[in-house]
Order: sequence, then structure tokens, then C-alpha cells
Amino acid sequence: MKGIILAGGRGSRLYPITRGISKQLFPVYDKPMIYHPITTLMLAGVTDFLIISTPQALPTFRELLGDGGQWGVSFQYAAQGEPRGLADAFLIGEEFIGGDPVALALGDNIFHGAGLGEQLEDINRGNQGATIFGYTVADPSSFGVVEQGPDGKAISIEEKPKNPKSNLAVTGLYFYDNQVVEIAKSVEPSKRGEIEITAVNNAYLQRGQLDLKVLPRGTAWLDAGTFDGLLQAAEYVHAVEKRTGTKIACPEEVAWHIGLIDDAQVRALAADHRNEYGDYLLRLVG
Ligand code: DAU
Repeated sequence: MKGIILAGGRGSRLYPITRGISKQLFPVYDKPMIYHPITTLMLAGVTDFLIISTPQALPTFRELLGDGGQWGVSFQYAAQGEPRGLADAFLIGEEFIGGDPVALALGDNIFHGAGLGEQLEDINRGNQGATIFGYTVADPSSFGVVEQGPDGKAISIEEKPKNPKSNLAVTGLYFYDNQVVEIAKSVEPSKRGEIEITAVNNAYLQRGQLDLKVLPRGTAWLDAGTFDGLLQAAEYVHAVEKRTGTKIACPEEVAWHIGLIDDAQVRALAADHRNEYGDYLLRLVG
């Protein structure tokens, strides 16, 4: 399965701070935001990534992430000239995706929870139709909102509805089979002029091929795309890391844990960080 990280957009909800720097490069306590979606997809078993961002920001992402070899993965990069919508990722990424299934992760979505990696790996192995993840939130009106039938299956999905039919928000992590490219091509722009991921998900729903997984309450899902969301995400990562002595979304650790890099490579990466981050990497390999 291929993986796309969508890390473009204007970031206008975070003006003025996003005028000079891309949101997905912001620190969430001790790591750049984009480490979160990258490690989420790595845990799902993705090693082949396409990072999409604005033409202006792309060189900085390249500088931060390189070709991925340091973590045993591959990063390719593609520019999105205008924020045409989330489903544009599959048009920009058509060649990259080829004949494979693909997972899309939004660059500002943060997931953390016990067993999440294994759950995602299972979905990756199944890879049929589409899988989306619902999460209960107090106010779902700024998200895609999914309504469930009596059997728990999705029966409708609406993008940012004024009167949400449920409290189940659709999170920014999506798994698709190869039909997604053809479906994305057929999506007409919405009233706000974007090719919406919700339209793609509705197409799978109509085909009877949409699987909804509801994330358990013990899982954290944070959208770091607003001032409050950004601060909450940093506070969450800080609190969990300090309390447990383990790091959230540390790509070196994830890569080592799943066998993409060995002890010697972790030591070499640690030597690059003469701080608490480097000490943590050294402690991992003893
Ligand atoms: O966070 C989950 C939500 O993400 C879902 O519940 C919604 O259904 C989905 O539409 C999306 O809603 P947002 O309002 O958060 O989407 P936004 O336009 O903010 O885009 C999400 C991220 O993707 C953001 O970090 C910017 C980036 N982006 C967005 C667009 C439209 C791009 O890189 N390119 C784009 O064309």
C-alpha cells in the first residue's frame, strides 16, 4: 500500500503564523507536526510515501525529511499549486499510486492510542473498498459527519453540516483500494470549489464498499489546524511523554520497532541530536 500525506493548503485559520511557515512544519511540543501522520502510516505498514505541499513549502519539507532512507522508507514529493481539495491528492498522486491501494493522511491530524498500529495494519492487509475512521466529538459541525444505521454501518456522510446527524466526525485518515483514482476524477467541485474527500467516501458508500471504524474512546484524535487545536496537541504530547517516558510519533523509534532500521542506524541518528531527543534514541537501543 502506498501512502500520501497532504500537507498543503493556505493555513489561513492560523494566520498570521502560517504566512511564513507551513503549518505541518510547526512544532507539536518536540517534533514537527508532519511526523504524526508519517508515523501513523508507517505503523500501518506504509513505506512508500508521497508528500504533497505547496510549491513554496516543498523545499523545506525536503530539507526536513530527505528521501526517507534514514528511516528505511521512501519519500517522494509533489506540489499542489492551489488548494483544490483533499481528493486532489489522488489526481496529483495518480502516477505514484499506479495500480496499488493507497492511504491518505492529513498533515495536521494526530492519532494516538493503544492497539491503533495493529488495527491499521489489519486494514492495510485487507485493502478492499474504503475504510474511514469515526471519532465522537462534542461539536462535529466543522468536520465530515457520518451517520450510522442500526447495525453500526455508515448510512450518510455530510461535509460540515449545519445540523449534524450524529456526533461522529470523520477523521483525516483514509484507506482506499485502487478505485479511488477513477472516483476522484469523477468528483465535481463542491459549493466551496473543492473536490471533497466526502464526495469520494460517498461514492464508496453508494457502491456498498465503505467500511466505518469507530475509534474507541481511549484513542486520542487531535486536529492541530486551529490555534486551540495546536496548543491542545502540544499539551497532550507533552503530558503523555513526560508521564510515560516514551515518545509519541518518533519516526526513528517506529522505524526501529518495525525492523526498518537497526541498532547501529538508530545510534547514528541519535548522534545528530545532542539533546533529550538523541538521549531517548540511545536509550531505545541500550
Ligand atoms: O480533519 C478532518 C477533516 O478534514 C474531515 O472531517 C473533513 O471531512 C475533511 O474535509 C477535512 O476538513 P478540514 O476543514 O479540516 O479540511 P481542510 O480544508 O482544513 O484541509 C485539511 C488539511 O489538508 C489542511 O491541513 C490543509 C491540507 N490541504 C487542504 C486542501 C483543501 C491541502 O494540502 N490541500 C488542499 O487542497
